[in-house]
Amino acid sequence: MAMRKEASELAERSSSNPNKPHRHTLSFYSPKLSFYIFSACVTIFVILHIKALQTDQNPTSSLWSHKHQQQRVTTNTTATMAEKLRQAVTFLPLKDLRYAGPAALQGHTWFMSSMYDKQDEEGGAQYQQFPSPSSHGRLLCLKGRDNHDGSRNSYALAFPEALPHNTTLMKGLTFVSYNHYNYDNIWHGQSAVVPFVSWHIKNSCAVPDRWILYHWGEIRARMGVWLGSLMEATFSGAPRVEVFDDVEEGRPVCFEKAVVMRHNEGGMSREKRLEVFDLMRCKARLYCNVSLDEQNYKSTHSVTKRIGVTLFMRTGPRSFKNDTAVIGIFERECAKVDGCRLMVAYSNNLTFCDQVKVMSLTDILVSPHGAQLTNMFLMNRNSSVMEFFPKGWLKLAGVGQYVYHWIASWSGMRHKGAWRDPDGDTCQYGEDDRRCMSIYKHGKIGHNETYFAEWTRNVIDEVKTRKMEEAKMAIPSSNGCSCI
Ligand SMILES: *[C@@H]1O[C@H](CO)[C@@H](O)[C@H](O)[C@H]1NC(C)=O
Ligand SMILES: *[C@@H]1O[C@H](CO)[C@@H](O)[C@H](O)[C@H]1NC(C)=O
Ligand SMILES: *[C@@H]1O[C@H](CO)[C@@H](O)[C@H](O)[C@H]1NC(C)=O
Ligand SMILES: *[C@@H]1O[C@H](CO)[C@@H](O)[C@H](O)[C@H]1NC(C)=O
Ligand SMILES: *[C@@H]1O[C@H](CO)[C@@H](O)[C@H](O)[C@H]1NC(C)=O
Ligand SMILES: *[C@@H]1O[C@H](CO)[C@@H](O)[C@H](O)[C@H]1NC(C)=O
Ligand SMILES: *[C@@H]1O[C@H](CO)[C@@H](O)[C@H](O)[C@H]1NC(C)=O
Repeated sequence: MAMRKEASELAERSSSNPNKPHRHTLSFYSPKLSFYIFSACVTIFVILHIKALQTDQNPTSSLWSHKHQQQRVTTNTTATMAEKLRQAVTFLPLKDLRYAGPAALQGHTWFMSSMYDKQDEEGGAQYQQFPSPSSHGRLLCLKGRDNHDGSRNSYALAFPEALPHNTTLMKGLTFVSYNHYNYDNIWHGQSAVVPFVSWHIKNSCAVPDRWILYHWGEIRARMGVWLGSLMEATFSGAPRVEVFDDVEEGRPVCFEKAVVMRHNEGGMSREKRLEVFDLMRCKARLYCNVSLDEQNYKSTHSVTKRIGVTLFMRTGPRSFKNDTAVIGIFERECAKVDGCRLMVAYSNNLTFCDQVKVMSLTDILVSPHGAQLTNMFLMNRNSSVMEFFPKGWLKLAGVGQYVYHWIASWSGMRHKGAWRDPDGDTCQYGEDDRRCMSIYKHGKIGHNETYFAEWTRNVIDEVKTRKMEEAKMAIPSSNGCSCI
């Protein structure tokens, strides 16, 4: 009470001097004045509060209902704010048709086009994570089950306290993949998962609880067998692909934690990719019970002498015209070298683990251009690749024909060049016409005994020299995967 009196006295004093400019007086007295005003407020508050507490014991009092009304108004404000935030959650099409045309090819991404990617370090994967500081703590939500039209699927960000009505919240870690191609072709498939594996390595080997697979914004229900096995091996558990079967049509699904990749492995440095391929190789061998222990092998074989040459054959398009003749050439060259062992495998009827096993014993992979070459990363580092093309590919196939040069470099292998068949079907439009690619694409591959034999001799020689040098340097064999 005393304080209140002083405060009013002060107010009188300052107003009792009309000659002085009001502003001056205020600024002169201001620290003291504000203290008094503050004290007055506190006092009034305390008094009111005591009164309210007293009247609480008397429910008939009109003050009681007044106070409760106030409290209800307050909680209703919070509810209204949450409701407003809830209403403000805006779903946008996953596939932004504005960017679906040529703009898509100029680096625009029409998948979740309003979002920006993050890259933790030079050469790391470009990704988005929700919630994160850049999403201001908001979660990723999807209404995304259409498997024909990506523009009918949509995404939104929402605060965890204000998720849209009737939301299904999915716990744990969700990997959301955008893939320009598909999840069946092993080369396109592995290209889509590489950044996820890189994220996994960087984030204490965190394992996804589910995957959501999009292709052109359309949901996909499964990975191909090879890719599924590779992911099962890498993450020590079969991938669970979510298609929202248990969610009612049109209802949103939000994710406790989501990581989105929409550039495949694009933009990742060789060093980062090497890490990923090293881990996938290591985990695949563990999963398939292929011995990781080089020492084991050294004790029973002379490692400097052993050279595994594998002919990885195709059937149908881009197969050799005469497998027998090609096998014969490699058999003869291999037979001339002590410790050389030739294996002939058909990519069409090998299980994933068969492929892992074969590759672990291969130092020189001999194979036509084709997705089966993606398996090369399963060989030991520094192994060699020899690639074969049918007629017509050099001029017409574009940069895509170099993908296995790139994979070799990214996975630490040595691409030993390609042989291009000079003979093949003639094309009615003339050799350089783009329309000819449809003919050449499915062409078969002949052979040139002289060339194949000499090339093989040179590559085997190089491998022999490298193995002897590596044995002398006693490179410690890696004794574990970077993630278990
Ligand atoms: C909030 O206030 C509005 C308007 O008075 C009322 O209709 C609504 O039921 C209140 N909501 C809650 C949660 O009390
Ligand atoms: C939530 O779902 C129920 C049951 O289907 C429905 O009646 C209700 O309208 C939905 N609420 C909103 C806000 O969509
Ligand atoms: C690897 O070995 C374990 C234990 O012996 C066995 O359970 C598993 O089925 C084997 N995996 C393969 C792919 O052979
Ligand atoms: C394939 O090559 C083998 C060995 O050179 C030859 O004996 C055979 O006749 C060839 N087959 C065809 C269909 O040309
Ligand atoms: C695998 O496929 C090749 C080519 O079709 C065939 O020659 C070979 O016999 C098959 N091997 C097995 C084990 O089925
Ligand atoms: C691969 O070759 C490079 C260059 O010769 C060498 O530095 C590296 O140690 C080799 N790596 C392995 C795993 O043998
Ligand atoms: C086969 O390769 C050799 C060695 O490169 C070359 O001299 C010869 O012309 C080639 N033969 C044919 C038919 O292309």
